[in-house]
Amino acid sequence: MKKITIAIDGYSSCGKSTMAKDLAKEIGYIYIDSGAMYRAVTLYCLEHGLINGDTIDTETLKSDLPDLSITFKLNPETGRPLTYLNGQLVEDKIRTLAVSSKVSLVAALDFVRTAMVSLQQQMGKEKGIVMDGRDIGTTVFPDAELKIFVTASPEIRAQRRYDELQAKGETGSYEEILQNVKERDLIDTTRKVSPLCKADDALVLDNSHMTISQQKQWLAERFKEVVGE
Ligand code: CDP
Repeated sequence: MKKITIAIDGYSSCGKSTMAKDLAKEIGYIYIDSGAMYRAVTLYCLEHGLINGDTIDTETLKSDLPDLSITFKLNPETGRPLTYLNGQLVEDKIRTLAVSSKVSLVAALDFVRTAMVSLQQQMGKEKGIVMDGRDIGTTVFPDAELKIFVTASPEIRAQRRYDELQAKGETGSYEEILQNVKERDLIDTTRKVSPLCKADDALVLDNSHMTISQQKQWLAERFKEVVGE
């Protein structure tokens, strides 16, 4: 069967990664969480004191960035990818609210985007990939055969993120998370370089009132339509 490229974009915490991961596993494609890459760069900035309030030491980051290694390895138990920064497992650290509250600032930097987009294009050059993010269908893989744009109301997205963090034993109030979701939506949609927007040829999925299994089935059907099964 021919391999295609699948781009899944959308707002924060709307369940893109869950559906992207599940589909990739089912069809034997590679899954790349592009947000994890921006989160890993943000973690690096926080751990090296490069962020002060809303100010980023861009000169230092620019010179350190080429030496950062961001890689993924599959968790053999869950079959899901884990993020490594310079060889260290950072999967949990990059999901904290501390990282979430700065990631959109870091992801708005043009030199960070150029570096991440080029890594992402490299990872997808053989096709057979599902990548999720904000600009996958517009900038990273504008020729992707299947593009999905996922959306849900901010309140529902905040509740999902809250439940996810609670399950991991993380702190953070619902209000704090809702504010972060709204703030990131604003920065992501209004930034100068590749803002979050729907590609003209993307299919829209509003999953506000869908269960995980319903959205999984919806996506599997779209995939079959494209590969002609
Ligand atoms: O998981 P969640 O939806 O909260 O976000 P994420 O996919 O982990 O992405 C975190 C942040 O990285 C987003 O809010 C964007 O600011 C940025 N991002 C981006 O700019 N471009 C991408 N392709 C992916 C993420």
